[in-house]
Amino acid sequence: MAQDDLQVMRDLIKTHREGFALDRHFYTSKAVYDDDIKAFWNHNWIWVGHVSQIADPGDYFLFDYGPESVIVVRDREGDVRAHMNVCRHRGSRVCLEKQGTARVFSCPYHAWTFGLDGKLRGGRAMGPEFEPKEYGLFPVQVQIFEGLIFICADENPPDLADSLAQLKPLAAPMQLERLKLAHEASYPVPANWKLAIENYLECYHCAPSHQEYARSHSLKDPADVEKYADALRDRSAAIGLPIEELDMTGPNAAAPGADVYWRRYPLFPGYDTGSKDGGALAPPLGVLTGHDGGATDLAVGTLNYFLIYADHLVGYRFIPRGLQETDIQIAWYVRDDAEEGRDYDREALTWLWHVTSLDDEKIIRHNQEGVNSHRFVPGPLSEMEWSLPGFYQSYFNKI
Ligand code: FES
Ligand SMILES: [Fe+2]
Repeated sequence: MAQDDLQVMRDLIKTHREGFALDRHFYTSKAVYDDDIKAFWNHNWIWVGHVSQIADPGDYFLFDYGPESVIVVRDREGDVRAHMNVCRHRGSRVCLEKQGTARVFSCPYHAWTFGLDGKLRGGRAMGPEFEPKEYGLFPVQVQIFEGLIFICADENPPDLADSLAQLKPLAAPMQLERLKLAHEASYPVPANWKLAIENYLECYHCAPSHQEYARSHSLKDPADVEKYADALRDRSAAIGLPIEELDMTGPNAAAPGADVYWRRYPLFPGYDTGSKDGGALAPPLGVLTGHDGGATDLAVGTLNYFLIYADHLVGYRFIPRGLQETDIQIAWYVRDDAEEGRDYDREALTWLWHVTSLDDEKIIRHNQEGVNSHRFVPGPLSEMEWSLPGFYQSYFNKI
C-alpha cells in the first residue's frame, strides 16, 4: 500500500500541470509524508538558529523534525558541529534536554558516552574486539552564514556555498553575526508542512487575511511595491544598505536546493519597520545609520525564510511533526547589544508576526480541511502566487 502510494506520487509528479496547485495526495498520504522527511528534509539545508545561542564550548540545543533529532553543539575548539541524536548502540536518544551545556553526551540507556565531537569515548563491557571509533554519532553537515546556522543530515548536501557568497555583500552592513535572540514562538497548525510553506510563499492571501500586515507592508499589491520602490531605494542607500537584489529562485539545475532570494520591498509611508505604530522597534542592525522603512525577503534553499527590517530579523521555519501536523516556528533577533526594556520592548517587537501567524494558523488549517475532501481538484494559481511553481519543482526533485 505504501509502495503504491509512492507510485501514485511519482505518477502525479509526472503529470503535474504547471501553474496549478498540487493534488490532495501530496497532503494526505502517510507514505508520501514519510518520504518527504527521508528524501527531501534530510537532503536539504535547514536553518536551526544563530551562533549566539551556543556561545561557549559545550553549549548545545536540540533541533527536531519529523522523527529526526539533531544535537547542535559548540565543541572544545569553538566550532559548531551537529550530530544525529541517535545512539550507535541500540538507538536510544542520547541527549534528552532541549538545550544546555554539556561536557560529554552520555546515553541514558546503557551509558555509552560521546564527546562533543561525536566520537564514542567508550562502551562498558563490550569486549576486547570492540572498536569505539566505528561507533561515533552520525555527523550532520553544518554551514554558517553570517552567524545563521544551517544543517543538513545528508552526507552530500546541496552546495550552498556559492549562493551564500553572492548574498554576503548584500547582508554585510546588517552584521547578522552580531544578533541575539529576543524571542521564539511556535504556532502548531493541523496541516501538512507543504501547505504551511506555500502559505508563507504567496502574498495573494495577505489583503483578505492579514489586516495588520496589509496596513503597513506593500507586498499585498504589486502596484504599491512598484509605486514606493524608488523612494525606498534612496532611503536604503542613505542608511548604508546595498540596493541590489538577488533572485536565484526556482529549480537551480546546477545545485538543486541551493536557491537563494534577496529583495527589499517598501513598507507604506509612515512605517520605519514592522511595528504597530510605524515607529522604530530596536537599534538599527549592524552599521546601518537609521531606518529606511523597508523589509528584506530572504530565502535560503527551499525551507528557510527570513524577513529583515532595519532593526530586527525574523526567521521562519515550518517543521513537520506528522502528516498533518506542523509547527510554524518564528524567532526574533535584535542587535546583540540591545537590552530588553531599554532598547526594545519584546511585546511590541513580536506583535506583528504574532497576530499574523494566528491568522495564518487559521487559513492553513482550513486549507488542509478542504484539501482533505475527495472533491478537491487543484485549481490554477494567480500571478501573485508566482513563487509556488518554483517550490513545487524543488520539491519534485526529491524523487
Ligand atoms: S542505546 Fe545508547 S547505550 Fe545502549
Ligand atoms: Fe500569511
